[in-house]
This record gives sequence, C-alpha cells and structure tokens, in this order.
Amino acid sequence: MNIYGNYEQSLHKVMDQLLHNIQELNEDEVNHHHPKLYEHLISRVKTPASMTEKCQRKGYPVTTESALRNCKDAIGVRIVCNFIDDIDRCLTLLRQSDWCDIVKEKDYITNAKPNGYRSYHVILNVTTPYKDVDGNVPGHYYAEIQLRTIAMDSWASLEHEMKYKHHIKNPERIGKELKRCADQLASCDVQMQTIRQLINEHD
Ligand code: GTP
Ligand code: MG
Repeated sequence: MNIYGNYEQSLHKVMDQLLHNIQELNEDEVNHHHPKLYEHLISRVKTPASMTEKCQRKGYPVTTESALRNCKDAIGVRIVCNFIDDIDRCLTLLRQSDWCDIVKEKDYITNAKPNGYRSYHVILNVTTPYKDVDGNVPGHYYAEIQLRTIAMDSWASLEHEMKYKHHIKNPERIGKELKRCADQLASCDVQMQTIRQLINEHD
C-alpha cells in the first residue's frame, strides 16, 4: 500500500472533477462572448514516491494524513493563460465558485522569486462527493493551482530543466541570464496586454 492508502483513486477522481469545473468556467466565459480563460490546462496527481519523499523532507510522518492534509499539493493543476488579465479573471471566478474555497495564495507575479520565477499559486479546498481522509462525506480535498502566462510557463520549464543539470560550469552566470530572460518575458507580457487593450478599444 502506498502513502495515499485507500485514497489514491479518489485523488484522481477529484482531479478530474476539478478539471471539469475549470473547463466549465471557461465555457461560460466563451458563451458570454468573453475571450477564453486560458490557453491550456495541465494536471497531475503527485506520484506516491515523490509525496513520500516530500513528507520525509518536511519532517512529517509518512502517513496518508500527512499526504492529504499537511501537504496540500497531491493534486496539482496548472492554468496557462494567454494574457496577465486572464489570470485575474480566473482568480475572480474561482473566488466566486461554491465548490471550492481558496485557503492560501502566493502572488509570485507581483513579487517574483529572486531567480525570476513568476506564477500565482492558490491552494483550494475542494468539496467532493468522495469520502476524505477524515472520514467525511462530502469530502474535502486540497489542490494546488498554478496560474501563469505562456511566457511565465516557458521560462519555468526551461529553469526547471536547468535545475537537474548539476555539472554546469558557471551557475552564477546562468542564473543571471535566466533572471534577465524572466524580466524580459515579464515586460513582453505587459506589452501584449497593452496590444490586446488597443485591439479591444475598436469594438
Ligand atoms: P512546497 O511545500 O515544497 O510545495 O513548497 P512551497 O510551499 O514553498 O511551494 P511554492 O508555492 O513556492 O512552489 C510550489 C511549486 O511551484 C513547485 O513545486 C514548482 O512547481 C513551482 N515553483 C516554485 N518555485 C519555482 C522556481 O523557482 N522554478 C520553477 N521552475 N518552478 C517553481
Ligand atoms: Mg509544492
């Protein structure tokens, strides 16, 4: 039995439900003649092995309770948006949704990480028909949502790849270049937003 115990299947079902709910938010927007909320969505349930490693790293007991309660990112969804203001629209709609509560927010867009990482993270408490680790029905499951633009996403995936290259010669130089790149992409996101506004002024 892995760290998720009897809850592994439920995690996958909750993730599917969450994706469905977010897709529905988008369909409502498009039906109201608003631009689509996001370019694409990706999702994953953290593997039992990496959840076990995370609990050990954080000093939590290796239990299903730790995996589903102390850790809040067993379910992860990334919403990749075309424009910065789409992120704000997603957040507004999530805040209005009755099937979830936002329990934590980290705004790495206003406050980028020192390395240049940008993204808006929220932890949701999702109400589901499935039994949760406390034995409650309806059950509550946490999920981490990362909201970012395509530009932020391309930077994050490049930087993520670099992290695992341990034998690089000059990490300081590379870090500096990556940071510069992140700032240029952020400035592009602002320009793109301006272009969208200029286009919309004519309708
Ligand atoms: P955990 O509890 O270990 O998840 O750490 P935390 O609470 O400090 O999480 P944080 O919100 O800072 O980051 C969680 C996730 O965001 C990571 O698993 C990555 O997917 C992403 N992330 C955060 N910082 C970086 C970064 O510098 N580069 C990249 N590529 N991704 C990042
Ligand atoms: Mg995490």
